[in-house]
Amino acid sequence: MSDSSVYPPSEDFVRQANVSGIDAYRDLYERAKNEPEKFWGELAEKELFWFEKWNHVFEWDPPFVKWFPGAKTNMSYNCLDRHLEKRGNKYAIIWEGEPGDERKITYTGLHRLVCRFANVLKERGYKAGDRAIIYMPMLPELPVAMLACTRLGIIHSVVFAGFSSEALKARVQDLGATLVITADGGWRRGKEVRLKKAADEALEECPGVKDVIVLKRTGSQIEMKPGRDHWWHELEAEVSDQCEALPLDAEHPLFVLYTSGTTGKPKGILHTTGGYLLGITMTMKWIFDIKEEDVYWCAADVGWITGHSYIVYGPLSVGTTTVMYEGAPDTPAWDRWWRIVEKYKVNILYTSPTAIRALLRHGDEWPNQHDLSSLRLLGSVGEPINPAAWEWYYQVIGKKRCPIVDTWWQTETGSIMISPMPGAVPLKPGSATFPVPGVLPEVVGFDGKPVGPNQEGYLVIRRPWPAMMRTIWGDPKRYEEQYWSRVPGAYFTGDAARRDEDGYFWILGRVDDVMNVSGHRLSTMEIESALVKHPAVAEAAVVGKPDEITGQAVCAFITLKGGDHDHEKLAEELREWVSHEIGKFARPKEIRFAEALPKTRSGKIMRRLLREIVTTKEVTGDVTTLEDFSVVSKLAK
Ligand code: PRX
Repeated sequence: MSDSSVYPPSEDFVRQANVSGIDAYRDLYERAKNEPEKFWGELAEKELFWFEKWNHVFEWDPPFVKWFPGAKTNMSYNCLDRHLEKRGNKYAIIWEGEPGDERKITYTGLHRLVCRFANVLKERGYKAGDRAIIYMPMLPELPVAMLACTRLGIIHSVVFAGFSSEALKARVQDLGATLVITADGGWRRGKEVRLKKAADEALEECPGVKDVIVLKRTGSQIEMKPGRDHWWHELEAEVSDQCEALPLDAEHPLFVLYTSGTTGKPKGILHTTGGYLLGITMTMKWIFDIKEEDVYWCAADVGWITGHSYIVYGPLSVGTTTVMYEGAPDTPAWDRWWRIVEKYKVNILYTSPTAIRALLRHGDEWPNQHDLSSLRLLGSVGEPINPAAWEWYYQVIGKKRCPIVDTWWQTETGSIMISPMPGAVPLKPGSATFPVPGVLPEVVGFDGKPVGPNQEGYLVIRRPWPAMMRTIWGDPKRYEEQYWSRVPGAYFTGDAARRDEDGYFWILGRVDDVMNVSGHRLSTMEIESALVKHPAVAEAAVVGKPDEITGQAVCAFITLKGGDHDHEKLAEELREWVSHEIGKFARPKEIRFAEALPKTRSGKIMRRLLREIVTTKEVTGDVTTLEDFSVVSKLAK
């Protein structure tokens, strides 16, 4: 697809859009750029509830920022209480379990559930500033637990249910959590994911955890440790369903979400309350064009940032109906998603290119069996979307009626940063198009100077925005080094990009040792550290290999310690090993055993060459620093 295929929004869409026409977008963008204090101050006043007003809109002491210092607000109040009068009987959450069970919860109902659970936490002595780990399947109680924490100022960290006990342990310890909220298990492709069992293993080495609250989902046999473990339903039965939301500082820590960086140790990305809330609220309105009657479905998992911002907090803040689905898209068959769209008359669908490619591969007959006419807007996130997937999504799912918002952002950015506003910006498939108001991105070279049109460079952001991360939990130095020192005065995204002659941004992927598999971020170093812990492994180098469905796939090059090895058996064992150390989703797709790995004379593994080998099967790049070229020629064979 050349850059010249352009899809302007239809007149019908423009007419009803929250931001209608390109001039309306430009006006917002210019106002945010030229008068940020006024722009964000007015929006904060109009769009959110505050117990107390701020002294300043923001304070920028690079690289640290405060938004709305002096103000008091509460996330849970903004997502629930303020809607009760107008939207009390409207559905807040429509949930479908993988086995086919269903729950519809109104704003009033959700408010009660959250208040009850907040009272449970209060009764057990938890208070603002304490830390809770939430390790749960995709059930309504997951947002309930998150909202109950935010109601009292308890800092939560959701750990995706696909993470192993080892990964969970590292997060509990790093956060210094004293509370863990989990479930007996959850359903995935008809099998039980045994969460409580994994939590028990993790907690053997987490003496700081005082309480584990367990939701009953699958009813399977689990162990309950006396004094430490409690059933959710038993605690909940003893408390009232009214609980005041606590007025908290705008900068009160809201949550920590761990993500992979360029080292073996995940980073705890800290988000705070007021600015984050404003960022997600505005992007829900601008990008997802939310209307009062919409049914909105982000088919991600709450365990990732997409789920935090655009399944839970964003949709509830704007008072929409958010759909949650517990399971896999192919269970019981490949039309499961289209059944959900038809059944609940979903208007807006937001998903990842990996999911789109997987659905595409199984053929048009699945979507074609269902009435998808309720859809009016489609979204994509997590990785660059290739033109074939874009076209299929546009034609087969959206029937050429629905604009596609290709949204670029990150765990660190909190809210969407570069994306079309669907009623304003003509689309170019594969381009995230233009920045959101208040976001000043640039494509720069090694020297930090902007490059010209169509030239590749690093994507950086020039000014702080409301939902920006505040620091890395417990490691402000790493925050400064990783994000604010590569290009002085700018936030370094770790992505490469180019900007075309019309000013459209094209994201080209990571420039660091971070892989993007199925839209999930994985660190090569983290997987390598896991692999070298195995007794048979001497060295490991992990690279991303282009993959038709998942974008990239994990490919591991391994050298072994002495002795005889059955390679096939060992490869399987190593895959299991990585599942246990990190989680199933990090398992290498390909394992290659090698006699040696390519290294520089100073002994550093040259992953760049391995990437070339798995991508093109040959090495054409610079090899002058390579110690022994024969290693590369053997690997390439
Ligand atoms: O490389 C970019 C890619 O995903 C990275 C962020 O990953 P994570 O923090 O896990 O958040 C994913 C969901 C927000 C980015 O550095 N990425 C995200 N969205 C896009 C994308 N690449 C291209 N196009 C996108 N729309």
